[in-house]
Amino acid sequence: MDTIKISPGKNNVGAYINDINLNLLNKDLIEQIKNILKKFGVIFIKKQNIDSNAYQAFAESIGQLVEYPRLKGLENFPYINVLERKPTDKSLAFGGSWLHQDTSYLEKDRPRFTCLLGIEIPKGQGNTIFSSGFNAYKKLPDEIKQKIKNAKGIFSSAGPISKTRIELEKRAGIQSSKVMEAEHPIVQEVNGQKSLYVSPGHLIKIKDVIDADSDKIKKFLLDHVNKDEFIFSYEWSKGDLVLWDNLSIMHKASEIKNCTRIMHRITIK
Ligand SMILES: [Fe+2]
Repeated sequence: MDTIKISPGKNNVGAYINDINLNLLNKDLIEQIKNILKKFGVIFIKKQNIDSNAYQAFAESIGQLVEYPRLKGLENFPYINVLERKPTDKSLAFGGSWLHQDTSYLEKDRPRFTCLLGIEIPKGQGNTIFSSGFNAYKKLPDEIKQKIKNAKGIFSSAGPISKTRIELEKRAGIQSSKVMEAEHPIVQEVNGQKSLYVSPGHLIKIKDVIDADSDKIKKFLLDHVNKDEFIFSYEWSKGDLVLWDNLSIMHKASEIKNCTRIMHRITIK
């Protein structure tokens, strides 16, 4: 079979996969998509015309689906969570304001991938903002790489991002769960490349930094991953499918106002 065509996202964050139809999946195509995902961390597939069956089938070809208790599932598709923004909503969007890596506060069995499908997209707003941990690590000064080579981050569900989450859970009638905390190396080896894993929305402390003040290093790293040169603000169209690996890619929602936006989300192990 032909090799599928890709083009880089802005600032080399992820890759677009062009000219494919996810209704026509086959083993070879899935293998190619998986390899692109491994290499780039996030893939953007524009304007697909897929129903929930095809969406779920695609997600299943990537890995094991996970129920995500913080959001409600779609009827008959418990693994498809609905992220809905209404014109009357005043607060930030779910996951807004802080770059983060989903569920970094879990010690074991962190769901690895997050997939979003654009169902209803407002014009000119509601971008999702990505930053690549691969690119951020590569551009670190060698001196910093040395200092953080054994460092671990402490990630908490009560980190800076939690304010938005708690508000949204209240609105959805979901009871806020207990605080979860986990420790992970902040330099992760992902498919043969090093990635900076600092989930700014959840990181509360860094430990085991060599020869430096850990709070200063923390601030440096958080400023670093937020630099324009690592950011891709992705503008959605209806039917776009975006899939990312939470070990290598950080994301956040942007602020939206006075509009409806519906995304279908699947979490994958
Ligand atoms: Fe998120």
